[in-house]
Parts: sequence; C-alpha cells; structure tokens
Amino acid sequence: MKEHQKYFPEKWHNAYNIDVPIIDEQHKQLFVLIQNLEDLQKKQAAPIDAELLAAFYKLAQFAGDQLIREEMYLQSIGSPTLPKHKKLHQGFVSQIIAYQKSIEEGGNPLKETVRYLKHWFVDHCLAYDREALKKRP
Ligand SMILES: [Fe+2]
Repeated sequence: MKEHQKYFPEKWHNAYNIDVPIIDEQHKQLFVLIQNLEDLQKKQAAPIDAELLAAFYKLAQFAGDQLIREEMYLQSIGSPTLPKHKKLHQGFVSQIIAYQKSIEEGGNPLKETVRYLKHWFVDHCLAYDREALKKRP
C-alpha cells in the first residue's frame, strides 16, 4: 500500500498485508470484528442488548490478545520501536477499558467506540504497524 489509507475500508484488501502472516491474520480478524460491531450498533442502537454487548466484549478481548502477540513479535525481531509501540497499545487498551466501564455504568458509548476502533485500525494497524513491523534492526 503506497498511500496512507484515510478511511476505514469497506472490504479487506490484500494490499493491507504487512507480510507477517500472524499479524496479517489478526488484523484481518480485527477488521471483521469492527465491521460486525458496527453492523450491530447500527441495527440496535439502544438499548444495548446481550448480542451487542457480547460482540463488544469479544472485540475488546481479541484486541488485547492481538496487541500482546504483536509485542511479542516485535520483541522477537529486536524492534527498536517496541517501547513506544507498547505505550500506544497501552493507550488503546485504556480507551477500551473506559468504554467498557461506561457500558457497565449504563452508558451507550458504542457509536464512539466504533469510531475510535476505525481510527485505530486505519492509523495504527494500517500505518504505524506497517512501518514498525517492517523495520528490522
Ligand atoms: Fe501495534
């Protein structure tokens, strides 16, 4: 992918692959989970029902696992970006935890969450990860 993707894509394109199979597979899964969450969010905006809540938790759990695997990969290749990259991941996890807390307290931050996740996917997965994971010391 030559140019920075500005918008959350409607479909997964092979050009998004970084050519690190374990990371590409996870990015693809994250992409599908975000799409599913958005579909549910649009269909059932309020109140939050069990299906929507389950989709949110699935995504939050997957995202956490994915970040840990990615950090392990970065460590395995001795990436100099690891400390900064970990901080970005921590910021993401903190934001997801904040959304979870809001849901548990009766809020409905799903629209905001989907927007945040789309930005994360475009700015982090498709741009930052691409650069970071390609750098071999
Ligand atoms: Fe990352």
